[in-house]
Amino acid sequence: MLNVIITGAPGCGKGTQSELIVEHMKLEHFSTGELLRQEIAAQSPLGKEADAYITKGNLVPDSMIIDVITSAIARVCGQCKGILFDGFPRTREQAVALEEMMDGRGTPVTLCIDLQVPERELIQRLLTRGETSGRSDDNLETIKKRLEVYKVKTQPVNEYYQSLGKYVAIDGMGTIEEIFGRIAAALTTCK
Ligand code: AP5
Ligand code: MG
Repeated sequence: MLNVIITGAPGCGKGTQSELIVEHMKLEHFSTGELLRQEIAAQSPLGKEADAYITKGNLVPDSMIIDVITSAIARVCGQCKGILFDGFPRTREQAVALEEMMDGRGTPVTLCIDLQVPERELIQRLLTRGETSGRSDDNLETIKKRLEVYKVKTQPVNEYYQSLGKYVAIDGMGTIEEIFGRIAAALTTCK
């Protein structure tokens, strides 16, 4: 299986590139942000709990996310060509849990792709999206909080995957196609 993580700051293009990656590589796509937004729309107990964290720009608790992803993996593992994790893991604890889960299944994580985009561009992209997205976290105050949380909690995940020799940084500036070309080249070396 080709199991790939796409990480990077809010607005770096994880969702946009994920669509192209799953289409070309035929992978299952798990976006924890999307899964949580679906739960919020359905007004489930999980969605109600997650809503407050998301609206304030905080991460939802690790235990909640690890439960969600564990059942998602159990559903598809072994029955697909691979999994693309979008926006997960976001803390070192989540990364350790994912490694244990995937190694335990004999289907280890192949590569962590870190999309790098300057902060000014991230804010611009998210503010532009906020004009139409309806997302409760696409406003300047929450965007700034998300960026701060990213630096403190999520950047250590990059160091973790660097230490495992499974990390690649990709320039996330340019056209969507140019960026996808860089990602595809990085994935080719994994096959
Ligand atoms: P999540 O949904 O993952 O949001 P995020 O990380 O803040 O990132 P976004 O989805 O906003 O951006 P993106 O990187 O996907 O970029 P996109 O392609 O959309 O998480 C939301 C919240 O859920 C978190 O804050 C947290 O509370 C919670 N959560 C989720 N996962 C969690 C976890 N594992 N643990 C704990 N909590 C969790 O692009 C952004 C915009 O830019 C779009 O409008 C796009 O059209 C545009 N764009 C894309 N590429 C380009 C380009 N090359 N040039 C110009 N514009 C571009
Ligand atoms: Mg996204």
